[in-house]
Amino acid sequence: MEIQQLIESRRNIKKFKPDKVDLEQIKSWLHSASMAPNHRLTEPWEILFVGTEAREKLNHKRNFGDAPVVLAILSKRGSSKVETDENMVAVSCFIQNFNLIAWSSGIGTSWSSLGITPTARQILGITEEYDVVALLGVGYPEEVPIAKERTPIDRKIHFVK
Ligand SMILES: Cc1cc2nc3c(=O)[nH]c(=O)nc-3n(C[C@H](O)[C@H](O)[C@H](O)COP(=O)(O)O)c2cc1C
Repeated sequence: MEIQQLIESRRNIKKFKPDKVDLEQIKSWLHSASMAPNHRLTEPWEILFVGTEAREKLNHKRNFGDAPVVLAILSKRGSSKVETDENMVAVSCFIQNFNLIAWSSGIGTSWSSLGITPTARQILGITEEYDVVALLGVGYPEEVPIAKERTPIDRKIHFVK
């Protein structure tokens, strides 16, 4: 699929098929995702594979739409607010890289911000050193939602003299 079509057709998946996704393939996509831009090469991402016990405790949206794999994507906090913010931005690039690589193989993802809650952080054993940028369901989509309309980009473009 051409990159523009890939970007436009990716959706946040709510319901997954039970079919397994190969672990080595996921690892290879995570490696590719790590080529994301990141200021001063902080490589702030850490990835947790979330097991069944933790998933039950998280009790999120029909068990993450029954995704066969759930990842928690963390961002290392920096020594300043700027560094922490930049790390989160870099991790967002990492996640979108992953989403698009997966989607190019027909694998969908669901991005949830549940991980920011204190309860979820405790269930996942996240220390104060990290932000949780996403809980990511990964799997073959049972259905792909229709795209939500975006504001025409001309209304978002501004020219500065
Ligand atoms: C930082 C971030 C947090 C998100 N958290 C949630 C969430 O908690 N629950 C949810 O259903 N979707 C969440 N989403 C997904 C958005 O709701 C979704 O991308 C948006 O509705 C547009 O749909 P699309 O991705 O299918 O185009 C999140 C997306 C981002 C970038």
